[in-house]
Amino acid sequence: MKRIFITGGRRLSGEVHIRGAKNSVLPILAATVLHKGVSVVENCPALSDVETAAEILRCLGAKTERQGECLAVDASNLQSRPIPEPLMREMRSSVIFLGALLARFGEAELFYPGGCELGPRPIDLHLRALRELGAEITAEGGSIRAKARKLRGAEITLDLPSVGATENAMLAALGAEGVTRIRNAAREPEIADLQKFLRSLGAKVRGAGSSTVTVEGKTPLCDGIHRVMPDRIVAATYLAACAACGGEVRLMGAEKQHLTAVLAPLKEAGCEIAADQTGLIIRREGPLSAVRPIRTAVYPGFPTDAQALFMAALLKSRGATVFVENIFENRYRHVDELIRMGADIRVEGRVAVVYGTERLQAARVRCTDLRGGAALAIAALTAEGESVLEEIGHIERGYADLAGELAALGAEIRTEM
Ligand code: UD1
Repeated sequence: MKRIFITGGRRLSGEVHIRGAKNSVLPILAATVLHKGVSVVENCPALSDVETAAEILRCLGAKTERQGECLAVDASNLQSRPIPEPLMREMRSSVIFLGALLARFGEAELFYPGGCELGPRPIDLHLRALRELGAEITAEGGSIRAKARKLRGAEITLDLPSVGATENAMLAALGAEGVTRIRNAAREPEIADLQKFLRSLGAKVRGAGSSTVTVEGKTPLCDGIHRVMPDRIVAATYLAACAACGGEVRLMGAEKQHLTAVLAPLKEAGCEIAADQTGLIIRREGPLSAVRPIRTAVYPGFPTDAQALFMAALLKSRGATVFVENIFENRYRHVDELIRMGADIRVEGRVAVVYGTERLQAARVRCTDLRGGAALAIAALTAEGESVLEEIGHIERGYADLAGELAALGAEIRTEM
């Protein structure tokens, strides 16, 4: 079993390059299904989730070719086949293949998706949106079958601005006759990035990044190239790590405007942040203070994916910080592991209070989910002694080389098989 060993106490300094965003590239890879030809995805990070998406594409008959950070997908000879259950269980975003396959073939069959366990993660909004476009959907025994003789453009209003449901609806709408308007759409930058990719194929989509996305279906597509946006959650990870450890880190390629909600509490905690044309620079010299309540929200609010990271960063801050998790019901599974390191955290329902402590001690801890795992790494960087992180497969789903990149910044960290 692969594990990460971390000895805490080092300051971080140097540069880290922020790679392409996982949450952007996964729906983009699902969207390559739409085009009977070649899509080239640049800045495509080498993550296990990306490999799972490529495996799904190959199962459907696509050819994929990776050269460094560039992945080419040739979906010319794709066939409509059920996506095997083990691949669906690997990650949540495999459900986006539903809308894409429906648009291309008028039918799709797959299983309920897996992914991080953050509490119930229903897909009712995805299914409702696809039904509004004319799909007949049956779900039994864990499998989902969607069929549509003809998809028709529709006015869809999502009950919640779900990221995945917005993406699924956008892709299915491209296979529908006429215009679809998705209202109360998620406004995350990854949705805008998906739109950019679709436009590179010649699709007519507009409004992504705002609450209304408009899609004109059935326009002919052509080969396209797209460069994936930088990963704002990976950027938040290095910002949180530097805040926790002290030092100065330059995040090459990070987009400041995607990170407004995470930069505010970092400044409040005592970090200096600067931006230039290469990216962002964070410096933390003095003590770290607790901050006003951090409430997770849909974009442009504070991202739920950064909640565990910031909790880890503030474990040794002066004072108490309240976290309110508003997006997922069970997103504090990392807390018990942090407590093993000596963290003082109380959780009640959706609220967690972090009381800053002077010292953390190394411990053997288990990664509970992707961002929870990264949070444990951050905490271990500030703990006395050598911590061991187990079940690091979760981390590899979203970080191409977390240990290597932190080591390059001066951390004492290594991965062992
Ligand atoms: C995406 C991100 C994930 C991030 C989340 C919220 C990807 C691959 N994953 O996940 O990292 O944490 O956005 O920013 O992009 N909901 C329903 N019914 C549905 C769909 C969602 O009730 O049909 C609820 C969910 O349970 C959750 C909330 O809506 O409480 C937000 O979920 P959603 O925006 O759909 O997140 P994901 O697309 O799964």
